[in-house]
Amino acid sequence: MNNDKKTEKIKHRYNRVSKLYDLIEKPIENIFSKHREKMLIDAYGKVLEVGAGTGKNFQYYPDNVEVIAIDFSPKMVKIASEKAKDNNNIKDVLEMNAENMTFDDSTFDTVVTSCVFCSVPDPLKGLKEIRRVCKNGGKILMLEHVKSNKPVLAPFMDILNPIPLHLYGANINRNTIDNLHKTGFTNISAKDLWLDILKLIVITNNK
Ligand SMILES: C[S@@+](CC[C@H](N)C(=O)[O-])C[C@H]1O[C@@H](n2cnc3c(N)ncnc32)[C@H](O)[C@@H]1O
Repeated sequence: MNNDKKTEKIKHRYNRVSKLYDLIEKPIENIFSKHREKMLIDAYGKVLEVGAGTGKNFQYYPDNVEVIAIDFSPKMVKIASEKAKDNNNIKDVLEMNAENMTFDDSTFDTVVTSCVFCSVPDPLKGLKEIRRVCKNGGKILMLEHVKSNKPVLAPFMDILNPIPLHLYGANINRNTIDNLHKTGFTNISAKDLWLDILKLIVITNNK
């Protein structure tokens, strides 16, 4: 399948789930929200949030930042735009593909993602774009689930992967840390938050 077709499929799945997304995620959001808050304390300056979904991060940004949020699902953008109305930090919510952003090089001080690189159809393309639009020395803050390295868990994650992929558009067996290295990032710190699956990744951009 070529990448355009893949993109349309994943976008369609997020459009389809958009209205129920917050409800479905509610049980894990109680735990997840504290990780969002902790990660976003370090956001500063001009911030790009990639794959903002329904805008769950919006309420956790510190006061002194200006956020532009993007997502390629128009229905997610619609919901996030509603949430942004009550939030002075969120300057714009745009429909845009992370793999092909329209921002100039080195536009942002901080780039944020949460549970996005499980879904981006061509993750290396998306990560290269993040590297390009983030300033040299800027911060990239990521809350991402990845494939476990544990010999018992890893094959299970491969076997189960088609379920979330078809329901949601999310993969549970992505090697996002490897992908970050392949993209050329060198200053990567990754902290395990749950097993070796959920990670807080902090990168200082180098280019
Ligand atoms: C699992 S949801 C996470 C949403 C949100 N970040 C959160 O923490 O709740 C993944 C989001 O990434 C978006 N997404 C996936 N690939 C994308 C791409 N190439 N460009 C822009 N958004 C993308 C999807 O539309 C979806 O809204």
